[in-house]
Amino acid sequence: MAATRVLVVDDDLNIQRVLVFALKQEGYEVLVASNGAAGVQMAAEARPDLILMDVAMPRLDGYLATQQIRAAEKGRRVPIIMLSAEASVEQRVKGLRAGADDDIVKPFNPLELMARIKALLARSGAALAKPGADATTLGRLCLFYPAKGGVGNTTIAINAAIALTTLLKRRTALIDANLQFGDMRVFLDLGLDTASIVQAITEPDLDMDLLRKLLVRHHSGIDLLLAPPTPAAADIVVEKQRQTPATMSDMLGLFRRLFDYTLVDMSKTIDDFNLQLFDEADIIFVVMTADLSCLKNVRLVLETMDSLGYEKAKVQLVLNRSTAYTGINVANAESALGRKVDYQVINEYRGAISALNSGEPFMFSRPDAPLSKSVTEFARILDRQTVEAVQLARA
Ligand SMILES: Nc1ncnc2c1ncn2[C@@H]1O[C@H](COP(=O)(O)OP(=O)(O)OP(=O)(O)O)[C@@H](O)[C@H]1O
Ligand SMILES: [Mg+2]
Repeated sequence: MAATRVLVVDDDLNIQRVLVFALKQEGYEVLVASNGAAGVQMAAEARPDLILMDVAMPRLDGYLATQQIRAAEKGRRVPIIMLSAEASVEQRVKGLRAGADDDIVKPFNPLELMARIKALLARSGAALAKPGADATTLGRLCLFYPAKGGVGNTTIAINAAIALTTLLKRRTALIDANLQFGDMRVFLDLGLDTASIVQAITEPDLDMDLLRKLLVRHHSGIDLLLAPPTPAAADIVVEKQRQTPATMSDMLGLFRRLFDYTLVDMSKTIDDFNLQLFDEADIIFVVMTADLSCLKNVRLVLETMDSLGYEKAKVQLVLNRSTAYTGINVANAESALGRKVDYQVINEYRGAISALNSGEPFMFSRPDAPLSKSVTEFARILDRQTVEAVQLARA
């Protein structure tokens, strides 16, 4: 079970040691930053559940660091406790103005600090939305549906999954539901001798333990349910779904219980199998590029989704290779579709293809490359919106 994560931002080594020890004893996962600037960066990247922030620090003091953390937040608000050096009212007010939720004066009694941390966490509800806390996960099922072949559906699904796992620390699974021509083994340099969705869907007593055994762990930390090893084996899955659709619901239910995010790479056919996936999903990302035949397909897909009665927010458009010159810019595409593009991923052919051919996703090998950052941005917004939606649903 993943623990609640506390970020300590303090330049004083002794205080760091005391806090790390006390927090770990209470079962928290602890991260440490030794100055304000590092604290701001860690707050964005590691998404702690709570921050303990010293006031006087080199490279950005605690007030400015808190302000910057608040300014970067859109949805979820991380609780911040200021560790101030003196008990002046002015200082306290300054801390609260900067965006802190509580403060405690040094030297403090660790017991009091722990009590405040617990109270603040309970108030913020962070424990609720956190992976593993109280055996809950975010449990989101997100589909990646290509409007056309070759738009980059698999590329975005894999790299978004890696961003969610490595940067946002979410438990993430990836299902290759491109039953006949799944590419994940190639993208991730895996052999054909692994278990696949065929075993998962035909297992009569599938439970969490069995499912875990059928998943393949990639070294980036994502868990994969691979596509059938041959197009012929794909028929077994399609047939099983047709006979007993509940089997697939049950399997997806297990994924929701095990993972914060289950991302599904789909094929572009609209058949019974994919229609069931559409129904089960929380979000359908329609991946597209800015060319005429793709736009035509997106229109058809949107009409289909409309006729299926899905609410607008369930279907989101991801424009891949958004910076490629096609003669159709984002505004043109949006006016042709009569709606906004929700996400854009930049064009970087070399980065994408060399990652593909080396079997090492760019998000893992080059997380700071522009293409990786573009996918990271997508993952961050997805995560922010998900946490908001889950908190709302559980409130
Ligand atoms: N953002 C990008 N910029 C440049 N090239 C990209 C980008 N995303 C994907 N590509 C390239 O586009 C090609 C197709 O990508 P990918 O296999 O992910 O697409 P797909 O939609 O899953 O295709 P398929 O229909 O074969 O399943 C690959 O060569 C990939 O490297
Ligand atoms: Mg693909």
